[in-house]
Amino acid sequence: MRSIFPILSFLYATAFAVAEPVLSKPFLTPLNSTTGWIIGNGLWNITIGDVYGKKLFYGGRDLIGDAVGHYQGYDGENNFVWTSASIYKETPEYLDVVFSATEIDLHWIIYPDQAGAYQYVENKALPTLAVLRTLFRLDNTTFTHGRTNIKDDILPPFSDILASTKVQDETWQRADGTFITKYDFSDFIRNLDFHGVYGSEFGSWYIRPGRDYLNGNHLKQELTVHRESATGDAVELNVIHGSHFQVNSSATFPVGKIWGPWLWYLNSGSTDDAAERAAQEFASWPYSWLNDSDYQSRGSVSGRLVLSDGRPAANASVFLGDNNSNKSTLDQGEHYYYAATADSQGNFNISDVRTGTYGFYAWSDGGSIANVSTTFSRNDIAVQNGDETALGLLTWETQARKPIFQIGELDHKALGFRNGGLLYQHALVAQSPANLTYTIGQSNESDWYFGQSALGAWTVLFDLAAANVSSNGSAVLSLSLAGYSKGASLDVSINSNLLASLTSTTLPNDPSLYRSATIAGEWRYFEFDIGAGVLQAGTNSLVFEVTNTTLWRGFLWDSIILEWKE
Ligand SMILES: *[C@@H]1O[C@H](CO)[C@@H](O)[C@H](O)[C@H]1NC(C)=O
Ligand SMILES: *[C@@H]1O[C@H](CO)[C@@H](O)[C@H](O)[C@H]1NC(C)=O
Ligand SMILES: *[C@@H]1O[C@H](CO)[C@@H](O)[C@H](O)[C@H]1NC(C)=O
Ligand SMILES: *[C@@H]1O[C@H](CO)[C@@H](O)[C@H](O)[C@H]1NC(C)=O
Ligand SMILES: *[C@@H]1O[C@H](CO)[C@@H](O)[C@H](O)[C@H]1NC(C)=O
Ligand SMILES: *[C@@H]1O[C@H](CO)[C@@H](O)[C@H](O)[C@H]1NC(C)=O
Ligand SMILES: *[C@@H]1O[C@H](CO)[C@@H](O)[C@H](O)[C@H]1NC(C)=O
Ligand SMILES: *[C@@H]1O[C@H](CO)[C@@H](O)[C@H](O)[C@H]1NC(C)=O
Ligand SMILES: *[C@@H]1O[C@H](CO)[C@@H](O)[C@H](O)[C@H]1NC(C)=O
Ligand SMILES: *[C@@H]1O[C@H](CO)[C@@H](O)[C@H](O)[C@H]1NC(C)=O
Ligand SMILES: *[C@@H]1O[C@H](CO)[C@@H](O)[C@H](O)[C@H]1NC(C)=O
Ligand SMILES: *[C@@H]1O[C@H](CO)[C@@H](O)[C@H](O)[C@H]1NC(C)=O
Repeated sequence: MRSIFPILSFLYATAFAVAEPVLSKPFLTPLNSTTGWIIGNGLWNITIGDVYGKKLFYGGRDLIGDAVGHYQGYDGENNFVWTSASIYKETPEYLDVVFSATEIDLHWIIYPDQAGAYQYVENKALPTLAVLRTLFRLDNTTFTHGRTNIKDDILPPFSDILASTKVQDETWQRADGTFITKYDFSDFIRNLDFHGVYGSEFGSWYIRPGRDYLNGNHLKQELTVHRESATGDAVELNVIHGSHFQVNSSATFPVGKIWGPWLWYLNSGSTDDAAERAAQEFASWPYSWLNDSDYQSRGSVSGRLVLSDGRPAANASVFLGDNNSNKSTLDQGEHYYYAATADSQGNFNISDVRTGTYGFYAWSDGGSIANVSTTFSRNDIAVQNGDETALGLLTWETQARKPIFQIGELDHKALGFRNGGLLYQHALVAQSPANLTYTIGQSNESDWYFGQSALGAWTVLFDLAAANVSSNGSAVLSLSLAGYSKGASLDVSINSNLLASLTSTTLPNDPSLYRSATIAGEWRYFEFDIGAGVLQAGTNSLVFEVTNTTLWRGFLWDSIILEWKE
């Protein structure tokens, strides 16, 4: 129980102590008047109509009340309509109830002594889509706060939204200039231990171990909890396929793809208790109780990544994803995905990988390999049940060029720069200057800002010795962007020679910068040749000039590397 509610917590414990023991068998009870069913056990139950679950009783309270309740759907409000509900399986331990719509089946695995239930979704006939979600919209007097692994706070009051001015997609500005947006509760979902909404007496949580059914790589971000802006409901989202911080997540899923199981967990509102439960669930993944041969069929993939210059690929991000894909690892999402990190020697071992054929990808996550701009990939990695696929020693070719300078670690993230890595917040890029001068050898990484949007020029000054210029010919400028939101254009020039114009006409949009991201959106990487004679002895200047802009849109920086070509 959270310490901010000590008195209520005591009363709640007392109320529970006097309640009669209510353990009873899990049940599915059809209603006989309209379409509808009641499911639950002695601790809780919910009444599910053709679309919405309402009347969620737990601890003597209806946790939904006037809120919209529990439902699932895709791409906006295309919500699934249940045509039947039946008992799929009954074991001595649990009851598996399946709700069927045309597009999906939703399973509820109900144990007698469990407050909440495991759930999983199976694809039957989903259309090509970008967002797939399940959610609870709950009573907002019972659920006042939201929690992820990086933010634990009161949900902004509905009255504040009503009194504020809408400035963009689900974003409002209060009279005092501050903003309210659902994107401020977003998170890197592969780091998320559990999330949910809670108050002084009740908590409702999603615990999602495994996460191999989610789309995207290590840097996949999604919405988690928020205040519903049209009704004031407390919203607990379970976005199992999403698009909110990337270029594209359009996917056509194979029939039989399963999302989950995850645990939807009810408690007294204690985040400590939910954390304990989350640790147990993560330790028991993959779940042995799910009697599904595809789910249980798993192997492992191991190997050691070494750079072509002999350095181990320390801490590299490694990823098992689609075989022979032309999508970025962030945009992949039709199958199953495994994100891991190599150790300091470049060793990796990814376990509990579903049987199948994968593409294997690796890239720098900074540290001792922060100057490596190449990535590694290999296809046709077969994983068999109970087997270890040992890839052995893998050699990763670096760009093999001689450094002139580098600003920022190449890790696909804006960390290290001013404001990079702050908690999600809307309009942070408006704090970046229009004009900036950065002098190599004098300025620090934190003098560069995480994002560039305002009309103006950011100039990098660097000195070259005459001997260096004459003994080397051409050079290569590598630009690594952690993200880009369309509506801004950037001219890149060196000693007044224009190298490139990066604009919305050539770069696809990711919404990260204007949706509160401070670390990453979708990674982009460019190389530009600089011919012999362009670089000079003495002072040189590299200029990034924003020539067109749109408020809160622009460039999220990762790294700038200038190297002699050789
Ligand atoms: C179902 O029908 C029976 C018999 O008519 C009635 O007693 C009962 O209240 C009904 N239950 C519901 C949930 O409508
Ligand atoms: C659901 O829970 C409520 C409140 O505890 C209880 O009154 C009701 O009988 C339960 N419904 C079923 C079908 O068990
Ligand atoms: C809860 O929802 C009601 C109904 O829309 C609304 O009047 C109220 O302001 C909301 N409460 C909060 C704390 O947002
Ligand atoms: C996203 O992918 C779909 C299907 O592959 C494609 O039709 C669409 O053009 C893509 N959109 C963008 C912005 O790349
Ligand atoms: C798993 O399911 C199969 C086929 O549905 C069945 O034959 C088997 O007994 C089940 N095993 C367990 C442990 O429930
Ligand atoms: C990617 O591959 C798919 C299927 O192989 C193909 O239809 C699509 O045109 C390709 N897209 C690009 C951008 O190459
Ligand atoms: C990798 O993990 C698997 C499964 O946990 C284990 O059997 C195997 O020995 C490990 N391999 C290495 C190289 O550590
Ligand atoms: C690897 O990552 C750890 C943890 O972030 C860090 O302490 C260590 O310095 C990194 N090692 C290298 C070689 O980059
Ligand atoms: C990997 O993908 C390629 C192209 O999609 C396909 O030809 C190949 O058969 C796949 N490999 C396996 C082992 O499935
Ligand atoms: C990166 O840094 C290492 C160690 O300082 C150096 O040996 C290497 O030449 C640099 N450049 C590249 C492209 O790896
Ligand atoms: C940025 O520099 C340009 C050129 O010197 C100047 O015209 C402009 O006013 C500056 N912008 C700001 C916000 O200082
Ligand atoms: C240039 O900025 C304007 C004003 O924000 C915007 O409407 C337009 O789309 C931008 N043009 C490009 C190519 O991004």
